[in-house]
Amino acid sequence: MTLQKSPAWKALQAHRKEIETFHMRELFAGDGERFRRFSIETDGLLLDYSKNRVDGRTMHLLVELARQAGVEAYRDDMLAGKKVNFTEGRAVLHTALRQPESFRMELDGQRVGCDVREVLAQMKVFCEKVIGGEWKGYSGEPVRDIVNIGIGGSDLGPYMVTEALRPFAHGGVNVHFVSNVDGSHIMETLRGLKAETTMFIIASKTFTTQETLTNAHTARRWFLERAVDESFVARHFAAVSTNAEKVAEFGIDTENMFCFWDWVGGRYSLWSSIGLSIALYLGFDRFTELLAGAHAMDEHFCSAPLEENIPVVLALLGVWYNNFFGASSHAVIPYDQYLHRLPAYLQQLDMESNGKRVDCDGNAVDYATGPVIWGEPGTNSQHAFFQLLHQGPSFIPADFILPLKTQNPAGRHHDILAANCFAQTEALMCGKTAEEAESELRAAGMEGERVAALTPHKVFPGNRPTNTILFPEMDPFNLGRLVAMYEHKVFVQGVIWRINSFDQWGVELGKQLAKTILPELGAGGDTDAHDASTNALVNRFRRHSNSGSGS
Ligand code: F6P
Repeated sequence: MTLQKSPAWKALQAHRKEIETFHMRELFAGDGERFRRFSIETDGLLLDYSKNRVDGRTMHLLVELARQAGVEAYRDDMLAGKKVNFTEGRAVLHTALRQPESFRMELDGQRVGCDVREVLAQMKVFCEKVIGGEWKGYSGEPVRDIVNIGIGGSDLGPYMVTEALRPFAHGGVNVHFVSNVDGSHIMETLRGLKAETTMFIIASKTFTTQETLTNAHTARRWFLERAVDESFVARHFAAVSTNAEKVAEFGIDTENMFCFWDWVGGRYSLWSSIGLSIALYLGFDRFTELLAGAHAMDEHFCSAPLEENIPVVLALLGVWYNNFFGASSHAVIPYDQYLHRLPAYLQQLDMESNGKRVDCDGNAVDYATGPVIWGEPGTNSQHAFFQLLHQGPSFIPADFILPLKTQNPAGRHHDILAANCFAQTEALMCGKTAEEAESELRAAGMEGERVAALTPHKVFPGNRPTNTILFPEMDPFNLGRLVAMYEHKVFVQGVIWRINSFDQWGVELGKQLAKTILPELGAGGDTDAHDASTNALVNRFRRHSNSGSGS
């Protein structure tokens, strides 16, 4: 049966018409218990979803949709190591990376739990040596700067986490991230560094990614121009990968390689040795607190009934708006400057996972799947795009994220930040009616036609949905919970939409074509191998660029 013909879907369609005219203002006015009924708390992490266009029946029908889609069975299959990434024939076991020590599991003859512990132990020893200064560079000085070279999942997670947890850094080493193949990224990063005290971590699951290998070769050249002796590479380059052969081919001693496994998807890999830069920057103990936080969310996801399950409820609300209100985007607004990379991280997590157009039977879907994810920290975003959230014609649900305690108590900063966060969700929900707008204008001394002319511009329709996520403070444990919460949300939505959330074939075509175009940029004469537009762009670049051979 197709999704849209399922009883739960049809019931939701009918219900959507019933609640068309409901305004959340009235729902709140008519129900003093609304916050209590539509919020969930687990160990201090609160999801308030009462400012959504839902009532008890909506939630009942949405949970029914999850049940009919088999969310619980799929979740159990994923956790049991079944090959739920069926287009790549892979298990999906990032949850195994954050299991406690007692965890034992076998998968195709591999000792998953033990293997994870072995790599964690290797990371711990390495971190202690580097942080403690025992690991010396070629001049005998300790490491001061770590440069993580990776892209996508081998960059966004570690970068987001190290930014989010800056106050927890031990201060012994700085961390830098180079991802873009634009040479400016690596050149700007290297400019301030000393080869003697710099350690490069080449992070790539496949170790074949063009951007990462290009940056890694440039880093190696830069290093050897200074260190001269090839044998010094071993003290300054480490690799994180599933591909030992390619690591050795690049010239990194596999002694300095930290492995992970094909059952860890790139965008789910920050919990694996891809998190080495996190562990070096924060210390290994902090890294394990991050894992413990994610594990706590895994436990909640596995044990809480669907109605009280935070990732499930977030997923269902997303489906509600995406499929029944035509919302094609979803904003994420962290009220925490340290979380400034969270929206970018979630873009890969969500859009690479659920930006799919065929279902698990290979049929084109006739319903919306993953939305566009975007956002910026509050309050900056309030002065940039909130106008559109409040008064634009598009309907954009949003998540508001706020830690209760700040890492930097300073005057009334945190109160002002929180007041803005709460005020925005209140404004989006309540809006401002024409009568209210008009009486405000009159109270300000305006009269007659001017009031009538201005009133429509001052009206806020309201009824715009938000989730508010509050947690005690931005520390490794809570960040782990927050990220795992979004991972599971994305998973649940993928199950409901009947798509494979764990492959990413959509990134392949552009990569293939770039490999064809690259040699053309360095060849003589004009190309006519493509369409007229691509030919003209390539030929113009060849005539005017200063890039060198292009090979
Ligand atoms: O571009 C897609 C992608 O394959 C992502 O899924 C992945 O996180 C990224 O490239 C980097 O891949 P790798 O870690 O193999 O270099």
